[in-house]
Amino acid sequence: MFVLVNLKTYPCDPVAVAEAVRDVNDRTDARLAVAPQAAHIERVAETGAETWAQHVDPIDYGSNTGHTLAESVAEAGAEGTLLNHSERRLKLADVDGAVRAARRADLETIVCANNPAQIGAAAALGPDAVAVEPPELIGTGTPVSQADPDIVEDAVAAAERVDDDVSVLCGAGISTGEDVVSAGDLGAEGVLLASGVAKADDPQAALEDLVDPL
Ligand code: G3P
Repeated sequence: MFVLVNLKTYPCDPVAVAEAVRDVNDRTDARLAVAPQAAHIERVAETGAETWAQHVDPIDYGSNTGHTLAESVAEAGAEGTLLNHSERRLKLADVDGAVRAARRADLETIVCANNPAQIGAAAALGPDAVAVEPPELIGTGTPVSQADPDIVEDAVAAAERVDDDVSVLCGAGISTGEDVVSAGDLGAEGVLLASGVAKADDPQAALEDLVDPL
């Protein structure tokens, strides 16, 4: 299972969480990665943890003030990027452009979507993975795998109809190892989570709990 910890703009110490991600990753068969804010990518990548961007823009080098260039996050040490997270939605044409920009910079891509219909559209754009996250469950602590298992199974089916090779992840409310196992049982190859680690008193213990049953 792939476990991607999205730090959003939570006031946690990104380097401390990244060190925990690195250490727990070294002790499990699961693949753990962390997605800090763009300004923290370089410091986080220096820990040796697999580091992802939370977003890149559908742009190339040039006059794009305030934008995030895929090549710049790659040079800072990111290996992949989330795209179209529900807190950073893009127009369809811009998701397409951002997937292409990420590919140009050799970044792995996960395109997020709210529901199975959007997952099908996202898969058609050729990312490495898609992730279904019902926005109403984000940050609630109620796992999508329990609150809405159908949405995960339907997302897996929708992605498969478009592209057999695309991986499907799920996210929202995931905070325990049991939640990760349930996501896998529903066909997901990984999970996205944030508050369960970024807001935990002891992020390392939270990560250990997440991978314990894997
Ligand atoms: O990107 C993952 C995120 O949106 C899920 O948030 O806090 O419900 O784990 P959370």
